[in-house]
Amino acid sequence: MVLKAEIHCHIEGAASPALVEEQARKYGVDISAIIRDGSYVWSDFTTFLRAYDVASMLFRCEEDYALLAETYLADLAGQGAIYSEVFISTDHAVNAGLTPHAYITGLAEGIRRAREKYGIEGRMIATGLRHEGPEAVERAARYIAANPHPLVTGFGMAGDERMHAPEDFARAFDIARDAGLGITVHAGELVGAESVRGALDHLRPSRIGHGVRAIEDAALVRRLADEGVVLEVCPGSNIALSVFPSYGDHPFPALRDAGVKVTLSSDDPPFFHTSLAAEYEIARTHFGLDDDALLAVTRTALEAAFVDEETRRELLARLG
Ligand code: ADE
Ligand code: ZN
Repeated sequence: MVLKAEIHCHIEGAASPALVEEQARKYGVDISAIIRDGSYVWSDFTTFLRAYDVASMLFRCEEDYALLAETYLADLAGQGAIYSEVFISTDHAVNAGLTPHAYITGLAEGIRRAREKYGIEGRMIATGLRHEGPEAVERAARYIAANPHPLVTGFGMAGDERMHAPEDFARAFDIARDAGLGITVHAGELVGAESVRGALDHLRPSRIGHGVRAIEDAALVRRLADEGVVLEVCPGSNIALSVFPSYGDHPFPALRDAGVKVTLSSDDPPFFHTSLAAEYEIARTHFGLDDDALLAVTRTALEAAFVDEETRRELLARLG
């Protein structure tokens, strides 16, 4: 089995329908509006985000989040993953009635258990939600800068890319960068190349979440390659959300051929009927990557990981 690493997965979006149904029973909540016949129900990005938010409200205490992280990482380890970075959202925690501290402590406990039981290393990337606006994203950055945790090693922004301009978030990203956090931002998923260019210019990330619509601008693709910016590509998510009509239209091969550093991740796997292993299989089947090329993708992800150098060396050594 090809060893894998994942650097783009939202922890709330990793909750399986079965686990969410279990949580719904625990709290006596009717979730038939978002889960039917064991699958999440949504039709476009807006309704996807809504279902995701409703599911997240069923994780209400430290142990719920420990269970979610451990369950996801156990599954990922079974798929051959040795490293995982998950996006976390203190806004979702607060909406569900948890303190950010309890949220992060619970997730860290789940990561610790998974490392002990399954040998998978994990880190967290704190995120702000773009559609909540610049003040909310700045608040998320300030919280994590003032409350550092050894397993929270990055800062990013998710949410609806169609809202607000990248420069509106410059201060939030400066706060996170000054706190020593790795920087990534969702761009070039729902909006085209100008969104990626704006993110690079104003937020100065080393990685871009998705970034795939950079393909619309050849000069931007050259810039990504020249500057060594790493793309967290999630092909299954892109097809599920109709960013591209089919795998044959997906720019992963063209970006890779142009020298852009590309990685593979699952984004919100049960929402998009995917998994990290499925993404590697998509790359094999549709993009022509063999075992060596897939292992090189894992190496790129580990080289771009927001992790201390000693851990990075240990992880890279496991690739042989
Ligand atoms: N939050 C969870 N999944 C997301 C995605 N694919 N794009 C933006 N924000 C998200
Ligand atoms: Zn994402």
